[in-house]
Amino acid sequence: MAKYKTLDDFQVKDKVVLVRVDFNSEIDPNTKKVTSDVRIKAHAETTLKELAEKGARTVVLAHQGRKGDADYTPLKQHAEILGKILKCPVQYVDDTFGEKAKKAVKALKSGGILVLENVRSFDGETKNGTPEQHAKTELVQALAPLADLFVNDAFAAAHRGHVSMVGFTAVLPSAAGRIMERELKSLAKELEKPEKPCVYVMGGAKADDSLEISKYVLGNGIADYVLVGGVTSQLFLAAKGVDLGKGNMAFLEKKELTGLIPGIKALMKQFKDKVQVPVDVALDVKGKRKEISVDKLPTEYSIFDIGAKTVKKYADIIIDAKSIVVSGPMGVYENEEFNYGTKKVLEAIANSKAFSLAGGGNTIAAIEEYGLTRKICYISTAGGALIEFLMGKKLPGVVALENAVKSKKI
Ligand code: 3PG
Repeated sequence: MAKYKTLDDFQVKDKVVLVRVDFNSEIDPNTKKVTSDVRIKAHAETTLKELAEKGARTVVLAHQGRKGDADYTPLKQHAEILGKILKCPVQYVDDTFGEKAKKAVKALKSGGILVLENVRSFDGETKNGTPEQHAKTELVQALAPLADLFVNDAFAAAHRGHVSMVGFTAVLPSAAGRIMERELKSLAKELEKPEKPCVYVMGGAKADDSLEISKYVLGNGIADYVLVGGVTSQLFLAAKGVDLGKGNMAFLEKKELTGLIPGIKALMKQFKDKVQVPVDVALDVKGKRKEISVDKLPTEYSIFDIGAKTVKKYADIIIDAKSIVVSGPMGVYENEEFNYGTKKVLEAIANSKAFSLAGGGNTIAAIEEYGLTRKICYISTAGGALIEFLMGKKLPGVVALENAVKSKKI
């Protein structure tokens, strides 16, 4: 039996289909405008287009930001962007599950798309709970009786056991949307049967995530090498006993990362050469790049990138890889003086013959900036959900879809 149902399993013509997507986008803090439509486009061009073409009455549920944060906005502009991408009118109602929303759902015509207000305007939305618990909430009680099918397409939010992510699966026939399906298939391939050698390139500042992923993929024989960059690599160097200099060490302390050092030490002891760290670094010397070998550390200057010798060392491993996962930049890539490591490592990945998979906001932005998008085999729409997936964790949004198959004979 298939683990979860997909759109192939249901007739949707004239049916009310509740689709949970992840429209959560970058927002300009001053203008409150969406600055990247990548996620909206992904859902638009796949699941939402298909449902509209098949004559479904599509009701879109999504979140934007978190209440109290600068990126918490209504979904009016998301609906407008969606309409532009699909080149068809998309309705929007500034209500999630009240009378206005219900009236709009009932009036929706076949082939039409309606975007409801930000699901996080409902205070209970972000509580974690089981599908059965969430099925009792006002949101699910109000909308489920109006719908024939629930489709979860929000892989990027699948690590949240929130009301709109799991509640409907307890009471409605439920399916994965095309983005959910595509992400799960591509990522499962990388975790279950990656072509060997398999290399994980972990950069950025989320060293705790990188450590957990490294433990999982090395411990389970998934990855053959982990190459570290960014702030993460500074912590790995510190764990090797390298003194980075007062300022750099203080920075790691301030970011509350030094507590990870014992875990990183244990990882490096267990997996030795499988964990590769920089052999040289680029320093910010009055705004200019200066590279020094790691054995010349400590330094009074900030470390802002990996050096050219490290790039060469990493590229030599990448060239022999058959599959590569990359998440996080190698340095402060936003500053041209320090984008060398990120750019060169991404180019090496893009030019390799390996199956390459990339995820995370900064990584995707850098890939786009360097014009490498078409040369990366798979770019995930997810950030946090991708990380949890690669750590081998079960995602509540996916588990709910699987349980819906087990519990109902649909
Ligand atoms: C994301 O952008 O990672 C998802 O949309 C989840 O958003 P959240 O971290 O605010 O729950």
